[in-house]
Amino acid sequence: MFILDHNGQQPLHAKIYDQLKNQILSGELSPKTKLLSIKNLAGELSVSRNTVEYAYQQLCAEGYIYSKPRSGYYVSFIDPEFLSAAFHPISAYSPKAFANEKVYAFDFHPACLSPGSFPINLWRKLYTECLKASPKQLAFYSNQQGDFALRCQIQKYLARSRGVSCEPDQIIVCSGLQDSLSIIAPILRENHSNFAMEDPGHFISKTVFRNHSFSLMPIPVKSDGLDLEFLQNTNSTVVYVTPSHQFPLGCVMPVVNRLKLINWAETVGGVIIEDDYDSELRYFGKPIPALQGLHPQGNIVYIGTFSKVLSPALRISYMVLPYQLLSLYRRLFADYSTNVSLLEQRTLSMFMEQGYWERHLRKMRTLYKKKHDAIIQSIQHHFGDQANIIGQGAGLHIVLELVGNSLNETELINRAQEKNVKLFSLSSTYLHKNNNKSQIMLGFGGMSNHEIDRGIELLYQAWYS
Ligand SMILES: Cc1ncc(COP(=O)(O)O)c(C=O)c1O
Repeated sequence: MFILDHNGQQPLHAKIYDQLKNQILSGELSPKTKLLSIKNLAGELSVSRNTVEYAYQQLCAEGYIYSKPRSGYYVSFIDPEFLSAAFHPISAYSPKAFANEKVYAFDFHPACLSPGSFPINLWRKLYTECLKASPKQLAFYSNQQGDFALRCQIQKYLARSRGVSCEPDQIIVCSGLQDSLSIIAPILRENHSNFAMEDPGHFISKTVFRNHSFSLMPIPVKSDGLDLEFLQNTNSTVVYVTPSHQFPLGCVMPVVNRLKLINWAETVGGVIIEDDYDSELRYFGKPIPALQGLHPQGNIVYIGTFSKVLSPALRISYMVLPYQLLSLYRRLFADYSTNVSLLEQRTLSMFMEQGYWERHLRKMRTLYKKKHDAIIQSIQHHFGDQANIIGQGAGLHIVLELVGNSLNETELINRAQEKNVKLFSLSSTYLHKNNNKSQIMLGFGGMSNHEIDRGIELLYQAWYS
């Protein structure tokens, strides 16, 4: 049966086409079923014959139906085996499926930003300006490494704030860490096969490098970062590190160790991948300059992101390649296009050029410092000496270590959920999962100060009473 809505912008022939197609794919119309004649359906729907004919011709051209001379139109045979594969997954991924995910009153996710912190009005204004100014550029693919003006802004920002020394032509604008690593891995695979990573560390690096057939070598993390002696005793020649704020434990690699790491790379002909993901958010003392700046000619790939201060949903990050790897990049990726929208890149470029980025940074640092202080105070208030805080003073999360509590991580998470509090597993950041430690990651970026305090109070009740 047809219900034809004459409102809306979709043409009538497209509505008829869609309905028939869906009825065929869902099995409602079985193979060999004869469709109403063009004349009858047009009469039934009060539309012109041309409208129905147009829809039938499209369905015919795509093979959903066929016509028999002097007889009419019939539904084609489509193998049900392929139908179930092609049709049913659509509903499995529908918004309804996502809607079933439980929403918690208190969510300590470690990578969530403060709702409402994105400069919506300003972004809209700049975006509209870019839209009007770029009619020619919108008609074609944009620069493979990213918009040049944006790369110049990033270069200046990195030199000024992070001590990174590079040229705009060394910068590649990417759509996040996964994108950067997916470019780096095949480049490095030409000459390397063993990949060392901090353990614990960010899960995406292990997944990407494993997918590119690297052997993975977990390197323990000490109170001053990656265990260098351990690294030196492996046969790895590529290492992924977060030296300015180790993820997830929060320690800083001192300059002595940075120099030793650089020396290791020079000795073994190795490559350091420096992930400087949240260096903007340091709440005490001076920012820690990037490792790359200590040896700009070395084999150091520097990675940064706009996800921690602006928005993780924007999907804009960047990577600085040393010249040694740039030529390989240009050879292997010559046919690739950028994954990042030109309009968003230009808007960001303008945002930086007009001084809004620096202003936004200052605002965000103040905002997140308040949240950081709120969670520290709340833990001290509710837990007293029954908990240690690991990795405070920077970023958007801390690690909480319970004292005199024998619950393992799964039990901690489950008990928290019973109190409507969502926690993120720390053990999943280890290469070999060990959930026996009484430690948990607590992100504070996405919660108000009041929610932080109430959430921490509920955690104490969940675990100690
Ligand atoms: C260690 C680390 N690196 C990088 C990122 C940023 O990733 P992306 O740029 O893909 O948003 C995160 C985000 O949480 C992170 O924890």
